[in-house]
Amino acid sequence: MQVSDPKRLSVPPDYPYQNVVDIVSRSDEMLAGEDYAHYLDVGLSALANVALALKGRTSPASILDMPCGHGRVTRALKAAFPDSALFVSDIDSDSVDFCARTFGAHGLASQPDFRTLDFGRRFDLIWVGSLITHLPADVIKDFFRFVLRHLTEGGVAVVSMHGSYVAGRIVASLLQGGEAYGVDNVAGWRMVDGFFASGFGYANYPTTDLSVQRYGVALATGRWTCKTVRRCGGEIVFYQEHAWDRHHDVLAFARPSGDRQQ
Ligand SMILES: C[S@@+](CC[C@H](N)C(=O)[O-])C[C@H]1O[C@@H](n2cnc3c(N)ncnc32)[C@H](O)[C@@H]1O
Repeated sequence: MQVSDPKRLSVPPDYPYQNVVDIVSRSDEMLAGEDYAHYLDVGLSALANVALALKGRTSPASILDMPCGHGRVTRALKAAFPDSALFVSDIDSDSVDFCARTFGAHGLASQPDFRTLDFGRRFDLIWVGSLITHLPADVIKDFFRFVLRHLTEGGVAVVSMHGSYVAGRIVASLLQGGEAYGVDNVAGWRMVDGFFASGFGYANYPTTDLSVQRYGVALATGRWTCKTVRRCGGEIVFYQEHAWDRHHDVLAFARPSGDRQQ
């Protein structure tokens, strides 16, 4: 076997989408310890949140998965919505190229500054798995505005965030002198203090190259996240605690009807 040979997932016979693409990138960091069953479940959990957000809406003609990574959720979206036009975006070009090639998606390059990012079209469904979980508050606001600019009227965004459940896990680790999702103990406590004082806390990873973008761990209460979306012009569809993979909170929001936002 060549090192460049693709890895293949073993899809259990009871997996509801037997049409799921089983090719996995060797660079997919989300396939920790080769736990294929959990990897596939994370995709199904994303679909369950998407289904709730789409209730009462027409099936999406266009879907954006951003950040796509190496397609952990893209493959589930492709399997569940085979007739939708699928778009993928990430700041990592290898991820975008892999997903475009493997899932027949349209690849779109992202960048650190969402204020000037323009894909030149809108989407009926935007899935955002684990991006704002890594961003500081001002960048999250820019990202929410970016999403609202890219939603069709009647479209919906489904976005994961670290909420109170993750805050509890982090506090438990810090109390034992441990780290916080990759952030060291001192910076972790500063982040947790921010979370309890204002509803939002953030710390860069020690390895973050700040000349590229600020990137680390963000924690927010549901109240902070919903208030921030509303201030950016969005309408909350739902907020559910630890609803993605029993881990991240999930927020769904839309453009208010009649909104003429550009
Ligand atoms: C934790 S991974 C999640 C990937 C994927 N959504 C999943 O669940 O498997 C975070 C991803 O965000 C991407 N990313 C970081 N900054 C970004 C940006 N400014 N725009 C788009 N993607 C970004 C990273 O390259 C990485 O693929």
